Amino acid sequence: MTLTLPRWFDLHTHFRQGSAVASYIKAHLDMGCAGALAMPNTQPPVSRISGAAETDGWSIESYSTELRAAGAEVFEQLIVPLYLTRQTTAEIIREGAVSGLLRACKYYPPHGTTNAEHGLPMDDLIGGEVFQAMEECGVILCIHGEQHALSGPDYIDAQQNAETLFYKERMPQLLATHPKLRIVCEHITTRVAAEFVAAAPNHVGATITPQHLLYTLGHLIRGLKYHLYCLPIVKFQEDRAALRVAVTTTGQTKFFAGTDSAPHTTKATACGCAAGCFTGGCAPQLYAMAFEEAGLDLSSAEGHALFERFLCLNGPAFYGFPASAQRFQMEKATSQTPLLETPAGPITPLPLGMGLELTWRMME
Ligand code: DOR
Ligand code: ZN
Repeated sequence: MTLTLPRWFDLHTHFRQGSAVASYIKAHLDMGCAGALAMPNTQPPVSRISGAAETDGWSIESYSTELRAAGAEVFEQLIVPLYLTRQTTAEIIREGAVSGLLRACKYYPPHGTTNAEHGLPMDDLIGGEVFQAMEECGVILCIHGEQHALSGPDYIDAQQNAETLFYKERMPQLLATHPKLRIVCEHITTRVAAEFVAAAPNHVGATITPQHLLYTLGHLIRGLKYHLYCLPIVKFQEDRAALRVAVTTTGQTKFFAGTDSAPHTTKATACGCAAGCFTGGCAPQLYAMAFEEAGLDLSSAEGHALFERFLCLNGPAFYGFPASAQRFQMEKATSQTPLLETPAGPITPLPLGMGLELTWRMME
């Protein structure tokens, strides 16, 4: 069996900075990717619109130039969101939107994940002039939707977690206060978040990663498979089931591919584990496996259409750019995911870290 699809867009990924960027971009190109939204939690963060990179921050302009020089110039789309920090003002948003450089902003909960120390509480932003300016200018808000600063039991237990709290408490308030703000709920992991997005107006969408469609907390904990450790953490069966329903519902337009592929040269350390799963080179294969686990037959016209919608069409439509006219192909055949050697050190792709053999293979 062969799948022929438009080249797809990874609307949430991490290309980092420095010597390994070219390796990460190449891995994306190798998996049929036509463009990407490259997250701004670099070191230093992407916190300004234009001008040269400085010690305290990249600009969207300088970071995009860096990515293009490392191979991203062949992408049909490259979106770099602005990292929302205490330095972000309404004026910056307006000027950025007028310049055409600013298409999206990223909200990180303070200290909520890798390089999130520049984030600020959602409560400080709701009703404020930055969100008002974004709403007026049509700048998309990409949200890492987890309540920050929770202690253990509130952070995660069987009844609730940082994400469900955020979607039950912060998101209704955000939508009520900024009814026109275009929002992407990034890497959603729970039934609560999936149902929230499904019920929200059409200008609210969501990305879903391969790992959250494939795995649950049990997969992570059994054997402490730390390559599966990412944030928001993988959740429970009912959550995975709800995500699978979200992506396989006929005609759905809100849910689209965003891998959150996040390379870490060091995952486990003596006192913890870096958050992030690397799926460069293997994301469409993993998504295809997840759709099959959800019961879809990708050789049927219906299964093909649903998969294409999620991987290749909904994201461009949401962001307002054309789907790719180029094609890539995958075939049903087992394949391996070797270590990715980079100048910064080897990166372990998620399937290798999980001992998972891919059942799909990229074709040249
Ligand atoms: O697991 C994650 N890794 N979640 C994020 O939100 C950030 C990412 C990273 O940059 O490594
Ligand atoms: Zn991310």
